[in-house]
Amino acid sequence: MNAVKDETTMESEERKDSGSDVSLLDHEYDGIQEFDNPMPRWWVWLFWGTLWFSLAYLFHYWVGNGQSVLAAYEDDVREAAAIMAQEAMNQAVTEESLAPLLADAGTTAAGQGVFAGKCSPCHLEGEGSIGPNLTDQHWIHGKGTLMDIYQIVSDGVPEKGMPAWNRQLSPAELRQVVAFVGTLRGKNMPGKAPEGTLVE
Ligand code: HEC
Repeated sequence: MNAVKDETTMESEERKDSGSDVSLLDHEYDGIQEFDNPMPRWWVWLFWGTLWFSLAYLFHYWVGNGQSVLAAYEDDVREAAAIMAQEAMNQAVTEESLAPLLADAGTTAAGQGVFAGKCSPCHLEGEGSIGPNLTDQHWIHGKGTLMDIYQIVSDGVPEKGMPAWNRQLSPAELRQVVAFVGTLRGKNMPGKAPEGTLVE
């Protein structure tokens, strides 16, 4: 074995010496040898291209303010929800036109603001004190549909201490606060004991 190897190394050395511009690598297996050709230009450019691209990409998304695909998608969803809520605001009040308001963060945030100012004295954050707990599955009036909530908030129950809000709030505020109460449903915050009938 050694003898064979020595022979071929000598051979390749001979070729190098002979001034041939074909450079053979030093190893050899089962009679197979390898040229030491440079990578093709286009390949090398492609390689550097990918390297620079990856650095630029890294910089853009990790250091710069590049937006991830997920964040861009969530932005689009938010935008669409806001547009749909805006359209729903211009329609007559129905269960269907109230529903899109719950999906729009801007609308529910506005509703939360109204709630904190006007409703919290009696309902706290929703868990109830003078007024009933709005986060449980029990309802005194109706079944907790958005229209039920709209009706009771709009007309109130003056004889029981729940004011009517249709004069005190603008139509937009009324819908906003109804949307916010809609988002409270099922949160089951510990607070005032359930009143009314259970709605599954
Ligand atoms: C002065 C106290 C008071 C304020 C302020 C008040 N509520 Fe009430 N609310 C009550 C009481 C009391 C009831 C229970 C009425 C009954 O027993 O029929 C009630 C009932 C409700 C109900 C019906 C709950 C059910 O189980 O059917 C909703 C919805 C509601 N309030 C929403 C609101 C919203 C929204 C606001 C603010 C815009 C608000 N309330 C402000 C006292 C209040």
